[in-house]
Amino acid sequence: MWFSWPVKRAVDCYSERLKPTTPLVTKTRIIDTFFPVAKGGTYCIPGPFGAGKTVLQQVTSRHADVDIVLIAACGERAGEVVETLKEFPEIIDPKTGKSLMERTVIICNTSSMPVAAREASVYTAVTIAEYYRQMGLDILLLADSTSRWAQAMREMSGRLEEIPGEEAFPAYLESVIAAFYERAGIVRLYSGKTGSVTIGGTVSPAGGNFEEPVTQATLKVVGAFHGLSRERSDARKYPAIHPLDSWSKYEGIMPKRVVGYAHSYLERGAEVGAMMKVVGEEGTSLQDYVVHLKSEFLDAVYLQQNSFDPVDASMSVARQKRMFKLVLKILASEIRFKDKEDARNFFYELRQNMLDLNGTPEDSDVFASLLAKVEQALGDRKPDFESRGLKVLSELE
Ligand SMILES: Nc1ncnc2c1ncn2[C@@H]1O[C@H](COP(=O)(O)OP(=O)(O)O)[C@@H](O)[C@H]1O
Ligand SMILES: [Mg+2]
Repeated sequence: MWFSWPVKRAVDCYSERLKPTTPLVTKTRIIDTFFPVAKGGTYCIPGPFGAGKTVLQQVTSRHADVDIVLIAACGERAGEVVETLKEFPEIIDPKTGKSLMERTVIICNTSSMPVAAREASVYTAVTIAEYYRQMGLDILLLADSTSRWAQAMREMSGRLEEIPGEEAFPAYLESVIAAFYERAGIVRLYSGKTGSVTIGGTVSPAGGNFEEPVTQATLKVVGAFHGLSRERSDARKYPAIHPLDSWSKYEGIMPKRVVGYAHSYLERGAEVGAMMKVVGEEGTSLQDYVVHLKSEFLDAVYLQQNSFDPVDASMSVARQKRMFKLVLKILASEIRFKDKEDARNFFYELRQNMLDLNGTPEDSDVFASLLAKVEQALGDRKPDFESRGLKVLSELE
């Protein structure tokens, strides 16, 4: 059986488009909790070379809660795709128990292949995604990288002697990028079933400068922005999604106010960190110092996640809720410390225990004993809870 369809035309055989509201669970904590993506939504991952775009997409393609994953490897190094092609057949899909390759489609157009085909490869991927959507399935399309796709467009448009726009990209760059992301969506089919296509694209701007046309055009249309930072990847803080630059317009698995509370610690912690660089640790008050320690703690045990640890690599929604609540409890506690050293030692030990927890299966004895240790360390200090924190904690009940 076969049928043909022009890849640049969206498949529009459905009765209505719905608003993307259900979160697409990726099992990556910083995404699900802080910068969620919705089924049928769009997001972009801009980041400089080597910041972890490809690794992040590969982790997502393994663990995301969707039926089919489409990988459009567009203009990046061939070696990476070869790895995926070799690895995926051997990985067992946690959902079906069969090989992961059975629900993965890979469209290849690596840097060694022709430019004209590169432009088409992204459209081919989205058309195949729509084809599966018509069956009432949830599809995740990952395009790596849309910058190479835009460069292919630039090259073609140059050869066609079209009038160039900004940085020699074609003048219609913005509308083409918008039209591509518009093909994402959740729809009700004529059969009454719903199907969705979620699009996540990486952008690799030269030198990590987000002010260039492709990043800017993408930012205008996507619903979530996971900006990778060189600073974080150099410090080996993975995934290197910058918690202060990134944003999402979608509803996540946790109430917005609760997430906002945790986020405010990151902001204040960064402020104190910047101040400390100038005045030094001695010039910082104990209170400010503790805010800084708390934000570092949240960063280390929750935002960062080890993609290569079999347990930590993917965290279920239930477990994320459980761990986030524990972290919030620690943030909201007004703990009394003798001095800065006492505070530092306390958080150091707490962080070690929490990191061990992250790598331990939830149903094991080790997990229970580590959890008890953390609870006890906090209990021994007999903390007060600040009023805003208490309110936030009660919202999570
Ligand atoms: N989540 C992660 N955990 C551990 N190491 C990572 C992670 N993400 C990236 N890295 C490291 O960074 C390197 C470059 O990542 P990659 O995804 O290829 O970058 P990009 O696609 O942005 O150029 C990887 O080879 C790996 O060593
Ligand atoms: Mg890459």
